[in-house]
Amino acid sequence: AQTEKDLLYKIHEVANTYFQEILWDNKEGRSIGLSYFKERELKDDIINKFQLGYSPEQKNAFTAYALEKGYTKEILEKSGLSIFPENTPAGVDRFRERVIFPIHSFSGRVLGFGARILKSNVKTAKYLNSPETEIYHKSNVLYGLNQSKQAISRKNGCLLVEGYMDVISLHMSGIENVVASSGTSLTTEQIKLIKRLTENVTILFDGDNAGIKASFRSIDMLLTEGMNIRVLLFPDGDDPDSFARKHPQEYVEKYIENEAMDFIDFKAEILLRDVGNDPIKKAEAIRDIVKSVSFVQNALKREVYLKEVSNKFGLSEQSLFNELDVQKQITQ
Ligand code: CTP
Ligand code: MN
Ligand code: MN
Ligand code: MN
Ligand code: MN
Repeated sequence: AQTEKDLLYKIHEVANTYFQEILWDNKEGRSIGLSYFKERELKDDIINKFQLGYSPEQKNAFTAYALEKGYTKEILEKSGLSIFPENTPAGVDRFRERVIFPIHSFSGRVLGFGARILKSNVKTAKYLNSPETEIYHKSNVLYGLNQSKQAISRKNGCLLVEGYMDVISLHMSGIENVVASSGTSLTTEQIKLIKRLTENVTILFDGDNAGIKASFRSIDMLLTEGMNIRVLLFPDGDDPDSFARKHPQEYVEKYIENEAMDFIDFKAEILLRDVGNDPIKKAEAIRDIVKSVSFVQNALKREVYLKEVSNKFGLSEQSLFNELDVQKQITQ
């Protein structure tokens, strides 16, 4: 028998095909959606690889199409693709006048969508995403994993970026081992998905304050799951998407290889930026770094990292071990 879940998968497949057809074959889709992607320098093959689409301006274009195909209002509402307000029996599409990024499961089924507005001056969220549904749990999904899983295994390493376009632009420049947490803060479930393929993660977040905050959180999460990490923030104003479009593949690869730091050097660089010679602030920064070390699961690795902190700051290992014990009591 066809379960509700089956129907939800099915309607996402239908919607995915619909949004792509609109992008390529419809006048509005081509002149607005496709033009948008072209302005962002995406090539046809990459647009197809990520199955990008467009949702038209008309209020219920997709809803009408799906109802016509026999899908019920109930399933449309449960999919998050339509809403049916009291006085609007024809329904309203969730995604209107936006370019569409389908979100796939590890094995390639469409679970939901992200959708970007075209102009950045509109007073609404830049990205609108599918709500949580019976098939889409955003904390269990990594954007791009389906398209990147082979390269992640092959290279035994995974680049972690913030956004849809970061994944897509890196793929376009030939760097295919990349996934995005898509704006949510990284979860244990997401890390476990990566861990099926590799234990090596390089965090490539935006160089703004939000990116720094997210990278600090992600470092502790990843260490807790036993991952090896390197971190790189792009120069302020750049993200992996803009950087990858400015430079050739080889340059980007070399840049990541040379500039990515271990988490100790990374946190030290950020935390010591405004410390100057203030000993109290410096001690606070070191405690923060030792706190991250306390999340390292393997005892031998933990000791190696602590030695690094000791060398870096010219502090005795004993006092750092004492601090580590304190931190471990707090965090466990
Ligand atoms: N995001 C979101 N909702 C928002 C803003 C961001 O879901 N209102 C998620 C998206 O997955 C987005 C990611 O967070 O891709 C990173 O956000 P940001 O850096 O602001 O966007 P970019 O991906 O750089 O967007 P673009 O280059 O298209 O402007
Ligand atoms: Mn950002
Ligand atoms: Mn960004
Ligand atoms: Mn961007
Ligand atoms: Mn180091």
